[in-house]
Amino acid sequence: MDNHSIKVNYCSTGKVKPKSDELEFGRIFTDHMFIMDYSDSLGWHDARIIPYQPLLIDPSAMVFHYGQSVFEGLKAYHTPEGDAQLFRPKKNLERINRSNDRLCIPELDEEFALHAIKQLVGIDKDWIPKADGTSLYIRPFIISTEAYLGVAPSRHYQFIVILSPVGAYYKEGINPVKIAVENKYVRTVAGGTGEAKTGGNYAASLKAQELVANSGYAQVLWLDGVEREYIEEVGSMNVFFKINGEIVTPALNGSILKGVTRDSVIELLKHWDIPVVERKISMQELYDAHENGSLEEAFGAGTAAVISPIGQLTWNGDHIIINNAETGSVSKKLYDTLTGIQYGKQEDPFGWIEKV
Ligand code: COI
Repeated sequence: MDNHSIKVNYCSTGKVKPKSDELEFGRIFTDHMFIMDYSDSLGWHDARIIPYQPLLIDPSAMVFHYGQSVFEGLKAYHTPEGDAQLFRPKKNLERINRSNDRLCIPELDEEFALHAIKQLVGIDKDWIPKADGTSLYIRPFIISTEAYLGVAPSRHYQFIVILSPVGAYYKEGINPVKIAVENKYVRTVAGGTGEAKTGGNYAASLKAQELVANSGYAQVLWLDGVEREYIEEVGSMNVFFKINGEIVTPALNGSILKGVTRDSVIELLKHWDIPVVERKISMQELYDAHENGSLEEAFGAGTAAVISPIGQLTWNGDHIIINNAETGSVSKKLYDTLTGIQYGKQEDPFGWIEKV
């Protein structure tokens, strides 16, 4: 395939763009989508940008039966100068290939995938919302499309990118969320697929989340699947705790997602000389830190969630209220700096921004 040829079929669907201050997360989609096919004989081929539309897929396509699929999430931002820019997109593309490897999906050409994403975002640039805290969420994903019911890696795939103008992921916005610590169910285990961004991990998380949603919890906090003791992640974000002035985040262990925002938070903290450590941390240690007054702050970090302060953790019936359920200073500084860089309102000393 000529790596840089993407056929474009423009359209104007006449869809009405949503008001940017009324946006939810992930319910509205733009005019166009990117799609590219894979077959064992041709490799990745037939890259095209077409009007956003339903897919025509055989009901026996393997993705429906065995879940062989991966996805990513990144965002495009509207700058004060009217440009569109992406935040660390190469990290997402490196990660989709790590997920591909785990799920036996053929590798993508990362440079070409970035080129495709930029071209798609450029075409639907007018869909990038402008209100504070809004952005254009980019969802690249790969599905296995071979019509076959045997359990084996598919020989056909589609790589698709869709775009959705979004507001805050949690209805709380930048206000602290309540999280329930999950004791019964596990999300994944080391050696499983936890480090990959694959739909099954999210399907496995729904039951626990459903059980607490009516009690006002935004999400659940997952503990390790073996000892049920060590803190892992929330599912839509990685977690950080400020204990005695030091920021602690669970070390990557094979079942925790290697978040791009997580990595950016660690780099920012180091840049500011704020002590940060990646290590195992148990729920008991966190509880004790709360009891002796050394747990100062907690927050989650993710592309969709950005920086989301955690005001309450409920564990075995105990309500651990953190920082009086108010946004802490580290969360605030991280949120302001990250969004400042993402929206082009602040200098980017790290080279994280990629113009469209
Ligand atoms: C993201 O932050 O982009 C995620 O993938 C979380 C998502 C499942 C909403």
